This record gives sequence, C-alpha cells and structure tokens, in this order.
Amino acid sequence: MSATETKMPMTARRGKPLAGTVTVPGDKSISHRALMFGLLTVGETRITGLLEGEDVINTAKACRALGARVERTGPGAWSVHGVGVGGLVQPSTPLDFGNSGTGCRLMMGVVGCHPIRATFDGDASLRKRPMRRALDPLALFGVRVVEQGDGGRLPITIEGPANAVPVVYESPVASAQVKSAVLLAGLNAPGVTSVIETEATRDHTERMLAHFGAKVTVTPHGAHGRRIDLVGQPELKPAPVVVPADPSSAAFPLVAAAIVPGSDVTITGVMMNSLRTGLITTLIEMGARIEKLNPRVESGEEIADLRVTGGRLAGVDVPAHRAPAMIDEYPVLAVAAAFAEGTTRMRGLHELRVKESDRLAAVADGLAAAGVDHAIEGDDLVVRGTGRVRGGGTVATHMDHRIAMSFLVMGLAADTPVTVDDTGFIATSFPDFVPLMRGLGADLS
Ligand code: S3P
Repeated sequence: MSATETKMPMTARRGKPLAGTVTVPGDKSISHRALMFGLLTVGETRITGLLEGEDVINTAKACRALGARVERTGPGAWSVHGVGVGGLVQPSTPLDFGNSGTGCRLMMGVVGCHPIRATFDGDASLRKRPMRRALDPLALFGVRVVEQGDGGRLPITIEGPANAVPVVYESPVASAQVKSAVLLAGLNAPGVTSVIETEATRDHTERMLAHFGAKVTVTPHGAHGRRIDLVGQPELKPAPVVVPADPSSAAFPLVAAAIVPGSDVTITGVMMNSLRTGLITTLIEMGARIEKLNPRVESGEEIADLRVTGGRLAGVDVPAHRAPAMIDEYPVLAVAAAFAEGTTRMRGLHELRVKESDRLAAVADGLAAAGVDHAIEGDDLVVRGTGRVRGGGTVATHMDHRIAMSFLVMGLAADTPVTVDDTGFIATSFPDFVPLMRGLGADLS
C-alpha cells in the first residue's frame, strides 16, 4: 500500500499556546514485533495498543500471507493465531511492506531460515533503501537471494535453507533492524546465534524473545555495546503484549509544546526505554522544561507521563554515541535547535541518509526553506539558532512521515506559516497526528 496517490499539502501557523493532555499511538517498533512474534508462536497472542498505521497494517498482512490468522478485535486490539517457529507457509504473492524498512528487514529475518521462497517489495521510498545490510548476515545462515533489484534493492526474492546453521555476527552498522533480522533468523537455526553490536540499539526484540519464552542473554560489550546470545529453535509460548505509547511519535507534541511559548502539554504513558529517550535527554540539556510523572512498568517496559511547558532553549552538542537512542528524532530535534539560542551540533548522523528519505538532506533543505542558518559538516548537522525562525516556504517531504510532522511543528512557532508539500505519509506511523495536534490548539490547515 502506498500512503497516498495525490499529494496532500498542509500549512502550520503560529497561534495560541498549546494546552491539554494527549495519548499518542502505540510504539511502531513494538507493534511490528508483536505481530511477528504472534506469527512465530503456536496458539493465540493478544495485542493491545497496537499502532494501526499503514506500516504495521502491512506487517499484519504479511503475517497472514505466511500462515497466521490475524484479526482485529477492537480499537488497537488484535489477536494472532500463529504457526510457530519453523511453521511458516510459502506466500503465494509478494509481501508488500509499503514505506516500512522495519517491517521489511525484520520479516526477512523471520522468513530467512524457513525452507520457503518469498518476495519482498515496497513503495518507491523503500525500493531506494539498502537491503544488503540484512541480506548479508542472512547469507551466513544459508539464505539464498534468488532475485534482487540493482544494488541489492527491492523487489528481492529469498529462499531459506533446508538446514540453517547458527551465526555469530558483529554488525558493521548500529542498527536494531539488522540485529533483529539476525536474531529472528536465528530462531529457526539449531544451536546458539549471537549478535555483537558496538553501539547498543533499541532492544525490543531481545525483550520480546524473553517475554515469549526464548532463552536469550544480553551482556555488555565494550564501552557502549552489547552481545546477545539466543538459543535457536525454541517453542515460543503465547504471551499478551501491551504496546506502550511511541516516544518517536510523542516527540512531535513534545517539541511543539517546548517551542510554543506559554504551552503546557502532558503526554501520557510514553515508553521510557533508555535506548529510545535520547531526545528527552537532549531537550532537557537544551533547557526544556520536561517533567516525568507517574513512572511505572507495563509489559516489561518503563513508561511515564511527560509534562512539558514552553520556554527558551539553548544550543547544545549532541554526542554521536547518543544517535541510536534518538535516531528517528533528529528531524524534530533540528526544529527545536532552530528555535534555540546558539549552535546545536548533532554528531554522527550518517544513518539518517538511508531512512524513509535522505533525512540529512531533507532536514537541511527544510531548514533552508524556513531561513534557518545551518550546515552539514561531514556526518554532523549544525544548526545556528537565534531564538526565532522566519518560516515561510514549502518543505519537500520526500515520502517521509517524520519530515512532514517535524516541519508542521516548526510552523506552529515560526514568524510566518510553514507549508509541507505532502502529509499523506503521516498515516504510516501517526494516523491521528493532525486531529491530536489540533486538539492541543495547533493551527493546521
Ligand atoms: C527500528 C530501528 C531503527 C529506526 C526504525 C525502527 C526498529 O532503524 O530508525 O524507525 O524497530 O528496529 P535502524 O535499525 O535501521 O537504525
């Protein structure tokens, strides 16, 4: 499914302070994984709080094509009757992941060590993104690429081995998608599969493996890394999954409230996994007033309500080792930096070039359109803020939901309105973004 056929532009204008309490949708990373674990488990997996965005719906469809019974039983409530590790059926048509790199790469891992043939495809944005980072480690298990587009791009057909071998893989990229693809493939290989990462990335796959009864151990590796060892061919046991609110979606009302003077916004039940909260750490360093209220644990993840009040921000230096904990938040952090006084340097952003768009270029172009002084220096993005943003201009979103939402947030505090050329792709991750922001008082039209 592609988000939209015709472009849907939108303009954000400065207005009154934002106020109110909101709940953002379920975490996208956990939602994809919950469905996939349901597929890999015999019996019923009940999921509540599932993100019902296009990316996750495409993963649900792929789970059906691979043999699961997947049903929606209420708003955000889903039931998956899976086929178990080793039980996937060969899909009769290509699996279409739309805009989602996570859905596609993780499912390559799920399918990889099954002796079936499957074709993976996606929209024009996903067809540009690198897939070898997932295919290269899968080849070590014995997975064969039958067909692929230029440079290892989609559409790609893979065929799994009759007898997979376990793998020890040190990932050359700090990527939870690559780590997860290897671990999910390792589920259907005998013996122990290990992944070594030199920078710790989001650990939802590891947590969910343990939650569904697999034997998985995580040990520190070097200054910032981890080693994960997984015993293959477990019998996963059905376990309910309660999906917490997505910190990457909370980022938009959070930054909006931080930059619109006089705002007072609370976002409830946001996941506080420390491998996801780099933006909150950074905003607090910039002087944002963010209170973490009512901290609690739900389904093995820490959550809290976040209260943010608008005020002045100052530029900061964001270290490269923090990037994995806020990899999807740089576009909206760049917007916060544009309103800060002083220079913000965001270091080590090379991975942003291979997201739904080349996010480094897309953010820089958007900042230029709004008259913000900035530079790309190597892999760093430098934003020289003056405390106010001229705005104006139209920002190209390049089929990228986070570029669209980030620059709409910018328009809420800029001197002149900011237009984004297409809001259609917001539905991939945050279908109710516009009504939720309007409910806080945002002027979006
Ligand atoms: C994700 C990992 C990240 C992130 C993506 C979701 C995941 O990608 O950008 O939105 O759920 O594992 P990389 O692992 O490629 O950095």
